Amino acid sequence: MNQPIVLGHAEMDDVHAEFEELLSTAGVCSDQELLCTLDALIVHLESHFAMEDNWMSGGDFPPRDCHAAEHAAVLRSASEVRPLVAAGNFVIGRSFIRALGEWFPAHATHLDSALATWICKQRLGAKPLVFHRGVATH
Ligand SMILES: [Fe+2]
Ligand SMILES: [Fe+2]
Repeated sequence: MNQPIVLGHAEMDDVHAEFEELLSTAGVCSDQELLCTLDALIVHLESHFAMEDNWMSGGDFPPRDCHAAEHAAVLRSASEVRPLVAAGNFVIGRSFIRALGEWFPAHATHLDSALATWICKQRLGAKPLVFHRGVATH
């Protein structure tokens, strides 16, 4: 299992942990559960992205357009995939879920991380500190 992505902004880290949990559930659910699981993912993505878009709209966050455009593109894809899954095309649903899992680390590491740093600088005048637990080697 991959290490969770931690950016040092508690609300963002919580929503990302929820997203990763939903993604891992979606990755192993049955075909019968896929539509329901996809719906849960879409509901999550709508509020997750709205929260970040709202933070970005509160100031002059530099890469705001690029970040919000990625959110919009993901939601657009989800809205195209959902009716196909509802019609029984589970392959495209699983492919979308896999693509989300591949997309997220780079999005979080570059765009969400920049947003977390910017928010912390605005609020506290400092970058967030993130401590990673070391992996013991013997
Ligand atoms: Fe995010
Ligand atoms: Fe984001």
